[in-house]
Amino acid sequence: MQSIHKPVLLQEVVRGILGDVNLTPDLSLQDSNTIPWYVDCTLGGAGHALAIAKALNGNLNILAFDRDPLAVERGYKSLNGLAKQIIIENINARNIKGVLNKHSINSVKYILMDLGISSDELENSGRGFSFLKDEPLLMTMGDPSTYEFTAKTIVNEWQEENIADILYGYGEERFSRRIAHNICTYRTKKIVETSMELAEIIKNAVPVFYRRGKIHPATKSFQALRIAVNDELKSLEQILKDGYDSMETGGKMAVISFHSLEDRIVKNFFKNKSIIGSKIITKKPVIASEQELLENPRARSAKLRILQK
Ligand SMILES: C[S@@+](CC[C@H](N)C(=O)[O-])C[C@H]1O[C@@H](n2cnc3c(N)ncnc32)[C@H](O)[C@@H]1O
Repeated sequence: MQSIHKPVLLQEVVRGILGDVNLTPDLSLQDSNTIPWYVDCTLGGAGHALAIAKALNGNLNILAFDRDPLAVERGYKSLNGLAKQIIIENINARNIKGVLNKHSINSVKYILMDLGISSDELENSGRGFSFLKDEPLLMTMGDPSTYEFTAKTIVNEWQEENIADILYGYGEERFSRRIAHNICTYRTKKIVETSMELAEIIKNAVPVFYRRGKIHPATKSFQALRIAVNDELKSLEQILKDGYDSMETGGKMAVISFHSLEDRIVKNFFKNKSIIGSKIITKKPVIASEQELLENPRARSAKLRILQK
């Protein structure tokens, strides 16, 4: 199945990280040692990777990561022939250091992280990411058969207080305590099994004005559960650190985040690196244009930050 994911801030990423690159059109003239490595930590539908490969006329090597096996399979097909070497790993990119070692890649020129899940996972994975679909409550980015820990575990087994802490800490959900309480009352009668069942429990826990607000009342709770299940913030910290260490001087790292917790981690990391000589290319985060928002509402909360080592 083809990817339905529309890459966000596509031109901004390509221009931002390749900006001053000297394009060399003839791949056959290149020695693989001088060809830069582009590491895509979150391949998804490969939209960014494709655009970067085309902008460099195939004059690059690609190492990509995705926890979702379907993204890896699709990635090999869509990138085929567009770079000198293409390696795609079905593993959390927090393992970047070990993977670079395994492939004897000593120096990386460009790194991209486009955080969160893809539209393919949201719409077609059947893993309960969407509160608009009735699917098993898993929320694992990877193949669920390899995960013991799912959203179902949190919702049915954790103590009320810990559920509330997750909803508040990772979702900034103001009604976290009421929602956690409703979940725990519900589960005394029946296990919470599906995404829609959970969305209904959340809806019934919050005040009417909140139910009628601009965003669905389950948005923040679903985001929080997904972040917890996939340990997204710790992964981000690890990738930033090990990714940065693997970059050559002059290399660029671009990160697209979708909520304030992620953006804060990226902003602080870049700030600390700027103290030791790296350059923050984006003084303020780059956000989507009006035109992009019309075409892709998912870009609404996207923030792009770029650092040069
Ligand atoms: C927002 S999408 C990326 C979309 C991509 N940039 C494109 O243009 O199509 C994020 C993808 O990264 C994967 N992902 C998220 N965090 C990851 C991590 N820490 N390691 C590996 N893959 C990750 C998700 O499974 C998802 O497929």
